[in-house]
Amino acid sequence: MAQTISDAHILVSMTYASRANPDVSAKDFNEILQQAQENNTANGITGMLTFNKDYFLQTIEGPRAQINRLLYALIADQRHHDLQLIETRELKHREWSEWSMNYASPTKENAAIYLKYSTTINFNPYLLSAEAARGLMSELSN
Ligand SMILES: Cc1cc2nc3c(=O)[nH]c(=O)nc-3n(C[C@H](O)[C@H](O)[C@H](O)COP(=O)(O)O)c2cc1C
Repeated sequence: MAQTISDAHILVSMTYASRANPDVSAKDFNEILQQAQENNTANGITGMLTFNKDYFLQTIEGPRAQINRLLYALIADQRHHDLQLIETRELKHREWSEWSMNYASPTKENAAIYLKYSTTINFNPYLLSAEAARGLMSELSN
């Protein structure tokens, strides 16, 4: 119990890549975003999600205990699979404090940002280093 209470005072950030399940539609993407924004507001979680029809790349940040709880839910979520952690770290302060869950998808306008951090033409978050994932997410939100 004491452990849980002290964990709540440590801010952590977790970034992962996952593969969208093939039957996930545009409507599902909207539902995921809405669910994330509602839950995160209630749970003190903030972050950034970027996705195309094949992949997700997400950073979640908040109290360590809550982030670990969300990780279990994400692993069990049938809308994606092959969740691979790219980075977990402690934070001095949040980087997405203004967003319950910010988001971006590849468009013509932001194509150069995706390409800037990739070796491939198409967005594939499994190929990103932690540093590249951080740079990409940060520039996409500008
Ligand atoms: C790519 C992806 C990102 C998600 N991001 C979040 C999130 O940021 N916060 C959240 O609470 N749930 C998120 N979810 C949903 C969780 O996996 C899970 O369904 C949800 O937390 C369960 O919420 P409930 O207990 O209110 O039903 C995400 C799901 C997917 C597939």
